[in-house]
Amino acid sequence: MAMNPFKPTAGKMPPILIGRESAIEEFTEGLDNGAGAPGRIMLVTGQRGFGKTVLLTEFRRIASERKWQVISETASPGVAQRLIDALASNGPHIEQASISPSIGIPGIANASLGQINLSSNTIPLTLRNAISKRLQSGKIGKGKGILITIDETQAASIDDLVAIATAVQHVTTSIDETDIPDTEKKGVAIVFAGLPSVVNDLVNDNVTTFLRRALRCELDNVPLLDVKNAFLESVVDSGKTMNDDDAWRAAQATDGYPYMVQLVGYYMWQSAQRRHSDVITGDDIAAGIADAQIAFDDAVCAPALDGLKSAEIEFLHALTADYPKATAIGDITSRTGRSRSWVNKYRAALIKDRVIRSAGHGLVAFAVPHLGEYLKRTA
Ligand SMILES: Nc1ncnc2c1ncn2[C@@H]1O[C@H](COP(=O)(O)OP(=O)(O)OP(=O)(O)O)[C@@H](O)[C@H]1O
Ligand SMILES: [Mg+2]
Repeated sequence: MAMNPFKPTAGKMPPILIGRESAIEEFTEGLDNGAGAPGRIMLVTGQRGFGKTVLLTEFRRIASERKWQVISETASPGVAQRLIDALASNGPHIEQASISPSIGIPGIANASLGQINLSSNTIPLTLRNAISKRLQSGKIGKGKGILITIDETQAASIDDLVAIATAVQHVTTSIDETDIPDTEKKGVAIVFAGLPSVVNDLVNDNVTTFLRRALRCELDNVPLLDVKNAFLESVVDSGKTMNDDDAWRAAQATDGYPYMVQLVGYYMWQSAQRRHSDVITGDDIAAGIADAQIAFDDAVCAPALDGLKSAEIEFLHALTADYPKATAIGDITSRTGRSRSWVNKYRAALIKDRVIRSAGHGLVAFAVPHLGEYLKRTA
């Protein structure tokens, strides 16, 4: 029985990781070029569904292949403490500790209610010791090290990030100060991933100079030609065929949005499968695109609007005329006929909810991909 190769599920590795070659190259060079290489501290940003989680998975795979130890964490209150626990445990791999719901309020100290008080200096020190101890253990070979990946960085408290940054920085400095040859020095690599807007907030904060120095990697739409080729290759590998024109049409419908690539691929493949056919036809593509659109609306657009106030929805409708371009605040005032303070109030609320983002001076735009189109369609 043939199996659908496409993976339209959050965090699931796609059959082909499209268009991330340069990020992977920079990361790999960071590991190979030893302490001080830029790729050893990375900050990956991207909107929902652009492939941050799967890129971190790929980074860990690459590091493991090079005999590095890997630790995978998702940011939420207490992440620094969980890192310490993970480092102190004995297993060779320490995957995903349990995640408590995010209650951190970025920028406000001690937002981790009911958790350890992270404002004290003990966490960075303990974390630093835990990393050092782990590095010194016989489990890590010469020239190798520990890779820490932190997903959902926007949910981390500033305190946690500072703790982690301080610890990594100190460990790195003390390794640099030893007279071991560079090729034999053990090291730490750390990759943070998160939503663009919130990470920007963190990066602008004075305390996180560390993050500002990180190598930035902004995940964008992937090239349509690569999407087309990935469709052709994945389809053939799965025992089916499709022609070049159809693959191109399917690729165009994805807009290069990685999650949409998996949705369109999944549903076009399934459409042929339902007919017990090994050939994906033009009709299968059309059906696949339609099904993918519905699934996308359900998975991304509808939840984004869920729970918004009617005033916020009204605000959003005033943006659709300009979509996909940004909208001037002045136009929102005139289109809605509301006061400037009404517009400012809901602008702030929607930015906080990450539904819209500031797009330069006096401009706002949708922060959720395809949302403008969805609102137009469902108006
Ligand atoms: N480079 C890529 N090529 C093809 N498909 C991809 C790529 N990156 C991610 N995907 C697919 O897109 C979907 C979303 O990926 P992922 O969960 O990693 O996104 P994310 O940025 O972590 O999203 P979120 O912010 O919601 O956590 C998955 O179905 C995944 O298989
Ligand atoms: Mg993710």
